[in-house]
Amino acid sequence: MFSRSKSITALLLVSIWSSCAFCAEAGANLNDPCVVNKLIGRGVNIGNSLESPKEGDWDVTLQEEYFQLIKDAGFNSIRLPVRWDSHAMEKAPYTIDPNFFARVDWAIKNAMSRNLVITINMHNYYDFFKDPNGHKERFLSIWQQIAERYKDYPNMLLFEAINEPQDNLKGVPAWNAMLKEWLPVVRKSNPNRILVIGSANFNSFYEVKALDVPKDDRKIIVTFHYYMPNKFTHQGASWTPDSDKYLGMKWGTDQEKRAIARDFKVVAKWGQENGRPIYLGEFGVYYKADANSRFQWTKTVADTAAEYGFSMTYWEFCHTNFGIYDPKTKTWNKQLVEALIPSKQ
Ligand code: GLC
Repeated sequence: MFSRSKSITALLLVSIWSSCAFCAEAGANLNDPCVVNKLIGRGVNIGNSLESPKEGDWDVTLQEEYFQLIKDAGFNSIRLPVRWDSHAMEKAPYTIDPNFFARVDWAIKNAMSRNLVITINMHNYYDFFKDPNGHKERFLSIWQQIAERYKDYPNMLLFEAINEPQDNLKGVPAWNAMLKEWLPVVRKSNPNRILVIGSANFNSFYEVKALDVPKDDRKIIVTFHYYMPNKFTHQGASWTPDSDKYLGMKWGTDQEKRAIARDFKVVAKWGQENGRPIYLGEFGVYYKADANSRFQWTKTVADTAAEYGFSMTYWEFCHTNFGIYDPKTKTWNKQLVEALIPSKQ
């Protein structure tokens, strides 16, 4: 079902990006993280779906048609945030609920059968962030189960350790130490899986350079998130303190655009020096922002990321918060789609 020729076709369809020095020689080899990063290309997060406590709690229930819509709009990939901790036993052996696992299988199948690369992560495991040592065994055991279940899947499926390290896992030393424990657990059953590893402090662009990943493990893509300036992108967002104060804030001066290029350059430089392809896993602007500013910001981020050779997945597909598709009216936000996937003239 997941034929190599399909993958090659997908590769040809993705535009040729520049910056990863290791990419120059790459053929359509799914064991090469640079190739896979190109296949991620321009994608979208299906946010507020499986990372809610129970699917549907945050308004998004996955539908098969969503995968086709994403494909037909021209996106290359999906990032699927998953809240495993609310579907696994509290105590050893921390077994993942088989029904939930089957639901994730279904989502992966729906992406891959359409030749969409899919990244699954661990999202919103707040107890682990609060008490990393107390929850480490459970975190690793959940990952061991995920890794074993999908070990025979092709590298159109990627694993991302955890979304946005925060709280007591926010700092560089704590996060780097945890990664050292996570890698061997996943590598045991998935020696060739392309793994996605994010930076500390909520996947900050600034902390990418502090990542400590084994130099001899080349099957890694490094990810970061970008929502700067936060006051602008999160204006009016209920979970962001004082964000109502910034309602009406606009964006789009040359100076503001240059700030994005400056920040991305830091990441790109590190990626080149260390031979790591870079994946911008989340970026977006809350729906309450002025539409033109939202378009300008999204386009500038996507264009700048593409210039630096980053792959990207916009946050998010169809929730009101940051969404680009309205499932009630079955319409896309055409302006934002154009910002994310410029039409080929
Ligand atoms: C993070 C959060 C997600 C939020 C997004 C934008 O991914 O996990 O819930 O919507 O950032 O703030």
